[in-house]
Amino acid sequence: MDIARNPATPDGNPEMADAAVEPKAPPEIRREDYTPFPWLLPAIRIDFELGLEKTRVVATLDVRRNPAGEPSPAIRLNGDGIELVSLKCDGTDCADRMMDGDDLVVTLEGDKHTLEIVTEIDPSANSQLMGLYASNGMLCTQCEAEGFRRITFFPDRPDVLSTYTVRMSGPKAQFPVLLCNGNRTDTGEDGDSHWAEWHDPWPKPSYLFALVAGDLVARSDSFTTMSGRKVELNVWVRDGDLERTEHAMESLKRSMKWDEEVFGREYDLDLFNIVAVSDFNMGAMENKGLNIFNTKYILADPETATDGDYDGIEGVIGHEYFHNWSGNRITCRDWFQLSLKEGFTVLRDQLFSADMGSAPVKRIEDVRVLRGVQFPEDSGPLAHPIRPDSYREISNFYTATVYNKGAEVIRMMRTMAGEEAFRKGTDLYFERHDGEAATCEDFVKSIEEGAGLDLTRFRRWYSQAGTPKVGVALDHNGDVARLRLTQTVPPTPGQPDKQPMPIPLKLALFDRASGAHRGEELVVFDKDSAEFTFGGFAEKPVLSINRTFSAPVSIERDVARDDLVFLAARDDDPFARYEAMQDLMTGYLVAAVSGDLGDNEREAARADIAQAMQSVIEDGALDDLMRGELMSMPSQAYLAEQMLVADPGRIHAEREALKGDLGARLAPQFHALYDRAEKIAFSLDAEAKGARKVKTLVLAYAAASDPQKAAELAAHQYDRADNMTDRQGALMVLAGLDSPERTHKLLDFYNRYQGNALVIDKWFSLQAASLHPQVVDHVKALREHPDFTLRNPNRVRALYMAFAANPAAFHAADGEGYRMVADLILELDPINAQTAARFVPPLGRWRRIEAGRSALMHQALERIAAAPKLSRDTFEQVTRSLG
Ligand code: BES
Ligand code: ZN
Repeated sequence: MDIARNPATPDGNPEMADAAVEPKAPPEIRREDYTPFPWLLPAIRIDFELGLEKTRVVATLDVRRNPAGEPSPAIRLNGDGIELVSLKCDGTDCADRMMDGDDLVVTLEGDKHTLEIVTEIDPSANSQLMGLYASNGMLCTQCEAEGFRRITFFPDRPDVLSTYTVRMSGPKAQFPVLLCNGNRTDTGEDGDSHWAEWHDPWPKPSYLFALVAGDLVARSDSFTTMSGRKVELNVWVRDGDLERTEHAMESLKRSMKWDEEVFGREYDLDLFNIVAVSDFNMGAMENKGLNIFNTKYILADPETATDGDYDGIEGVIGHEYFHNWSGNRITCRDWFQLSLKEGFTVLRDQLFSADMGSAPVKRIEDVRVLRGVQFPEDSGPLAHPIRPDSYREISNFYTATVYNKGAEVIRMMRTMAGEEAFRKGTDLYFERHDGEAATCEDFVKSIEEGAGLDLTRFRRWYSQAGTPKVGVALDHNGDVARLRLTQTVPPTPGQPDKQPMPIPLKLALFDRASGAHRGEELVVFDKDSAEFTFGGFAEKPVLSINRTFSAPVSIERDVARDDLVFLAARDDDPFARYEAMQDLMTGYLVAAVSGDLGDNEREAARADIAQAMQSVIEDGALDDLMRGELMSMPSQAYLAEQMLVADPGRIHAEREALKGDLGARLAPQFHALYDRAEKIAFSLDAEAKGARKVKTLVLAYAAASDPQKAAELAAHQYDRADNMTDRQGALMVLAGLDSPERTHKLLDFYNRYQGNALVIDKWFSLQAASLHPQVVDHVKALREHPDFTLRNPNRVRALYMAFAANPAAFHAADGEGYRMVADLILELDPINAQTAARFVPPLGRWRRIEAGRSALMHQALERIAAAPKLSRDTFEQVTRSLG
């Protein structure tokens, strides 16, 4: 029977049953509508007959009525684009069923049944890279958030936990390695074919299911846990990539040790597998016992990976490993609780990376991401709370807000509690909710009770969107300094009015003459305004506030440039020192862009900035990694965020002019710094990494002041490079210059690394991100390059994410950049909707851009919205962006 044409649907709408007729607006899912699933599925067994073009899946589900659910006459099994081959209920063919859209609804009368569901899928035709798909001749899966329903019919929601037993079979020659979650319990051969059986003893939701079959080789190692259990570790890659897996393996072992020491969390299986795949929508995925990674976050050696790549690998390996507790042992009740696992795990990976390297530099990098990506999200049409209230497509909510702001919110609890009390809170959380599908509220309660905090008002951070603005004023009278704080949380879509939230601010008051302060204080203020007084100051102190970025807020204050110069040179909190440098440059650039600076003011501000920069360059007490942070200019995105309506052209021009001015004023200092750094031989230690960082920064300043000299220096650095950081840094600078060296070195780079996909991605990115005036034309040409393909997300992102993040190019005044991104979205949407939808937010900034460009951005969005058939992903992002 052809059930896809069954006209009967529960709401009596015959059209809904036909998968070909897509409703124009996909339904909105609301957090308040949550109800427990009426059935339990304690055990499931799946049999896979693997083939690249045809995989047959037989799923056997033990189904029982859920005593905690509403009694239901039927069970709804989600599907997505799959066809049912057969269905048996308790051993006999089952006709009492119907299709409701893509879902299979089976009538069930008693309390306990066994369902056997057979489906067939074509992994090679799966370009969405969700569910089971083929990549480079191997088979792999991606099930989060709703990919399991592309494999078999199942209640594909995170609160349905089952133990999985999986048998997989396939041709030995094609798939010599067969991997799944848990432990391998049996294997066998059958002519040219072989099979393996796997069992995962830990109940898990379907989104954590994973399977891999292919011709892979492993770097193997082991880790002995704190209770003395030996765990076998494997990092699986394609033959030839093995030499580039050492850093990944070392990062894994460090992660396992760190989670034991810092959070008391021990690994819980005898085997941990990681597989690297080159076609992957995201960075990596925490499937139980079988993490699947984008090759970008596994493969590294000094010749092909930058220092940033090394750090990224360590962070992502840590992140996915840490999910074993914050995500897998305790999972999410529903997808509105995503920040429960992602926000917390981001915090955990941030703390891990801070402990493995330079903590202040890591903090600065994390804040830069937050302000460069999350703040704009929070002030635009896609703003949402870290625990959203509704969605149409959950893939659109894996956002900087849920992840990075989510991490900041938990970090604030840690700051208020102190490290020790916070650990008591997380211990309680892990103990109380182990084995459950929990909520953000469960987490907050555990921290509240375990750490002994009152988080009543603090919970507002979970429900309110928008970046709070904190007004800061310090005055001085007699010997008393008085600090006045105000807060406002701006309106966001669907949330016009906001309540004040508890904001923990670390601060210090410096004595101007001695340069010292009396100790850092933490103030928490949770009202619209508050006042704090500090006695014993004969003179007005210098205020250092939001030290370590203790709260994810935007500070607004009138501060004397002298104070910023003082803090940039003297603050003992490295983050606050960085902040002073940023404020100094931001204050000047915002004023310069708005056009209200006279020549004298301009000169005075530039001289102050140069003086502060010089003290940074010459401060012998700084390490170069930190020096590099202090030397970095605020990003164009951050600057735009400081203005109600931004003119990207003017911001770009003023920012480049300041860069050139500093490059010229401080040329001798920059060159001395370069000469010193150049003498440091390659290694992966902090000193050598720092040296590489400042070298490329010097080249960037030189490029803005003396392009000819910069081209020479960069070409020299390129030729001498014995590592990818130096080579890529030099090429990045060259790519922005109109010099014959540009063409030579770009060609050399391509020829040198042809065939290494991750390095060729860099080659695409460098050109799309460059400061060259013809980037738009370059990107158009690269779009037609034989190595470009829409089928590989890494390649698409390499070219187009770099382009969309390049303000001078993306915001070309004639709107060509917007048209190109809209064209990409329309072309990519049918191939890979998740990736396509991720290009919509840059266009969604239209309300905050000057009128001419704003209209062109809006036009681009409307053109996408008018397309005859859009994915749920892109539809939702475009309609929200049009607002
Ligand atoms: N669980 C996610 C991966 C994921 C996200 C799968 C969305 C499907 C849809 C994973 O733990 C994750 O968050 N990965 C990040 C990297 C991490 C270091 C923030 C990613 O893939 O970008
Ligand atoms: Zn994650």
